[in-house]
Amino acid sequence: GQEIPPVSQRTFSIIKPDAVKNGHAAAILAEISKAGFKLVAIKKIVLTKEQAAGFYYVHAARPFFGELVDFMSSGVIYPMVLEKENAIADLRTLMGATDPAKADEGTIRKMFATSIGENAIHGSDAEETAAFEIPYFFAGYELK
Ligand code: PPS
Repeated sequence: GQEIPPVSQRTFSIIKPDAVKNGHAAAILAEISKAGFKLVAIKKIVLTKEQAAGFYYVHAARPFFGELVDFMSSGVIYPMVLEKENAIADLRTLMGATDPAKADEGTIRKMFATSIGENAIHGSDAEETAAFEIPYFFAGYELK
């Protein structure tokens, strides 16, 4: 019969400052690769507070916003664009729950996160979120 080719999807992810400081960046990249994601783009940066606040603007009214912005601008991060079929949902599954204490065995947060605030990895939660987050960090020419 006719084969239907898989439709690939892109998502946006960040290896957060806690994971980088704790030396887990390469191990997290290995888990992502093992799960079948293609690494479309990656960079190594330190955000200013203003850049972190702009990225998390949807959470500006949340009680933890200041803490989140301070943490995300506290050290090196690795923003990246990942691609596979069903990338957005599959990365969220691979990441595990926001609170590592509630994350399933085998998830990145279970293995590498410290706390609900310092939780190792970010992943877009929807197509519209990815459509904002990818161009926040990457120009078109970086996404071939
Ligand atoms: S929600 O309700 O799904 O929108 O929120 P959630 O995904 O749980 O959290 C949104 C981001 O805020 C971070 N977060 C926190 N930071 C510091 N302190 C506390 N208590 C806290 N709770 C949630 C959480 O890690 C999410 O960051 P990202 O980068 O989006 O994963």
